[in-house]
This record gives sequence, C-alpha cells and structure tokens, in this order.
Amino acid sequence: MIVERMRTPAAVGDAERWTAHNYHPLPVVIAQAEGAWVTDVDGRRYLDCLAGYSALNFGHRHPTLIAAAHAQLDRLTLTSRAFVHDQFATFCRELAELCGKDLVLPMNTGAEAVETAIKVARKWGYQVKGVPDGQATIIVADGNFHGRTTTIVSFSTDPDARDDFGPYTPGFRIVPYGDLAALADAIDDTTVAVLIEPIQGEQGVVVPPAGYLPGVRDLCTQRDVLFIADEIQSGLGRTGETFACDHEGVRPDMYVLGKALGGGIVPVSAVAADRNVLGVLRPGQHGSTFGGNPLACAVATEVVRLLRTGEFQRRSTELGVRLHAGLRSLVGEGLVAVRGRGLWAGVDIDPALMTGRQACERLAERGVLAKDTHGSTIRLAPPLVVEAAEIDHAIAQLAAVLH
Ligand SMILES: Cc1ncc(COP(=O)(O)O)c(C=O)c1O
Repeated sequence: MIVERMRTPAAVGDAERWTAHNYHPLPVVIAQAEGAWVTDVDGRRYLDCLAGYSALNFGHRHPTLIAAAHAQLDRLTLTSRAFVHDQFATFCRELAELCGKDLVLPMNTGAEAVETAIKVARKWGYQVKGVPDGQATIIVADGNFHGRTTTIVSFSTDPDARDDFGPYTPGFRIVPYGDLAALADAIDDTTVAVLIEPIQGEQGVVVPPAGYLPGVRDLCTQRDVLFIADEIQSGLGRTGETFACDHEGVRPDMYVLGKALGGGIVPVSAVAADRNVLGVLRPGQHGSTFGGNPLACAVATEVVRLLRTGEFQRRSTELGVRLHAGLRSLVGEGLVAVRGRGLWAGVDIDPALMTGRQACERLAERGVLAKDTHGSTIRLAPPLVVEAAEIDHAIAQLAAVLH
C-alpha cells in the first residue's frame, strides 16, 4: 500500500537537506527499537543485522542497561573529572578486572580512545623505552580503520578516509595486515607500538591468518614494543570471546575499547593497560570533559557485569556457527566469500549480480538491516540477543535477494 510508507520519504529528504553528506544512509527512518528489532516511522519492522557496528551487542534497550541509565539520570549525570563521583572507581575497577589490567582511562568515542593509546604509547616510548625525543614510530596495518581524527586518518590506506585531509601526522609505518615478516622488518629502535585490529571490521571482517596475533605478541615482547589491540568493534563478546585476541590466547599491552561499552545508550570508550604503561600520564596531559561521566560509568559498569556472565559470548559462539553455516551455503549461489567469527560476518556478493549497496537496499525492503563496505561486501553483526530463528530469517532473506 502506498500510504504505508508516507513518512519515510519526507524524513529522508529532511535529513539530506539539513546535514552534511558525510554518510549515505539506507532510506530507513527508525523511530523505535527493542532487542534485535527496529521499527520505522511508518510502522515497518526490521531485523537489525548491523547493531550500530557492534555498539548494540546487547540489543536495543537491554532492560538492565536501561534501568541503570534511568536510575543514574535521577541522581547525577555529569561532574567533569575536576571531582570524583561515586560511579567512577567501580566502573574502572570492574573494567580493569575484565581486561586483566591494572588501570583504565575512560573516554567517549572510539577515535578518542585510539588517540589516547597513541599518546600513551609515545610517552611510554620516550620515558620508559628511551626513544630519542620526537622520533617515536607506531606500526599499523594496511586496510586499518581506527577512526576519523586527523592523526588517525593520517595512517589510513583508504583514499576516502584520507585524501584532502592533510597535512598528515608523521610517525606511522604501514605494513600488510597478516604479514609477520613485514612487521618484523618494520620494527626498529624508534618503534613504540604496533596498533592493529585483531579482526579488521570496516575492511570487511577480515580475520588474519592463524598464528598472526601470537606472532605480533612475540615480536612486540622481543623488541620492547607495545602491542595495542583496537578491540572497539571486535571486543566485548562480538566474536564469541570477551576479546577477539582471546581466540588465540593473546594478551595485548593495551586494549582499546568503545562501541558496546556504552550499551547502545551513551558513548563510552576506554583504554586498559598496566601501570607501567598507563602510569606515564600525569595530571593535565590528557583528558576529556565527558570521559568517565556518571551516566556513562553507571551504564558501562552494567555492560561489564553482563559480559561477566559469559552468556553473550556463548550466544555469539553458538549462533555464530548457525550464521556462518547458513552464509556458507550461499557461496556459489550469489556469494563469493564468507569471513568472520561468532555473530560477525563479512560476505562478498558476486559483483556480476549487484553491488553491496544494492544488496543492502533489497535486504531492507525485505525487513533486514545490514551495511555494505568497499563495493561488494556486506557486514552482518546482529545483536547478541538475536534468536536462532531470526538468524535463519536473515539468511533466507539474503538468499531471496541473491536469486
Ligand atoms: C576498530 C575501530 N576502531 C575505531 C573506531 C572509531 O570509533 P568511533 O566511531 O566511536 O570514533 C571504529 C568505528 O567503527 C572501529 O571499528
């Protein structure tokens, strides 16, 4: 029925008219959500298979998280770090324990946490490792995605992310992702850190070869270099473990966390590391007005507690098997490749059939939300509260789109 979608075109048009075009969203205007499902302004329901790029690992409006937010809204929302508040130490301690690290530094967005890790690594390099002033280098991987600040785009290999945003921040070396020999060659006496994603999400859910992460760990240990794992998208249950590094028994020197840490309610990010690393910062050297605010801490503490139950990691493992089996059955039937771990998959659509964008538009018409990347790839990352039948539904809709 034509009347059914009356509000959507106007709302899409308004959004286009009044905002910078730094995104190209699908024409779906969401008004409400619960669990794994969202409802648009015309009352149409969609299964959310993007989950805010993993910011909604616990689903939309998880009751425990919503209750924590409401309770905190009624008491105290913001103090700045000029004072201590009563939610701060609890959050930092419980997150530090989850990470097995001494200390936590809370920020807001993922990019800020990455910037924090870069600053800490440089200071550690000068003060602890003894790198000559101004010479610290950080090694990153080809195909990385760590955020959008000027420093972070300086070491992006994606022309859209980088071009025309110079002059660029120096001090980064780029090596091929998954290539240990190239990494070993790139490390020298100025190297303070290796910064990588344990799985490259934005690149299309690219899982490195087995042995890569342990190899990075060994090289970093041997050469006195910090291993910084950007687990902003891969961490907090998404892959079936608390951290994607856990699959290979690897413990980085610094975890960089974000997205799901805010429970899909508030932006919360953090860096976790031991005292010999994070302890290099002194008052006045780094901070954020909103970082570690009471509302953020109250919600994020409950996120940590949800993760401690292990339920979400277990769901991701078990349902991930179902998701990947279903997707693999479509290889040769319109898909050319499937990658990923747990409830996280990158699938490459046969470019002869359609683009990733077209596939996502057709999926949305069939009531499933997913997002394309790099031409022919689609990422699927449903909330970890998704049910088996809903996974089957998403796969059936993808099969229908491909036929
Ligand atoms: C691995 C990784 N790092 C950093 C970021 C940046 O996070 P934010 O958009 O919150 O700044 C992202 C966002 O997609 C990410 O996937």
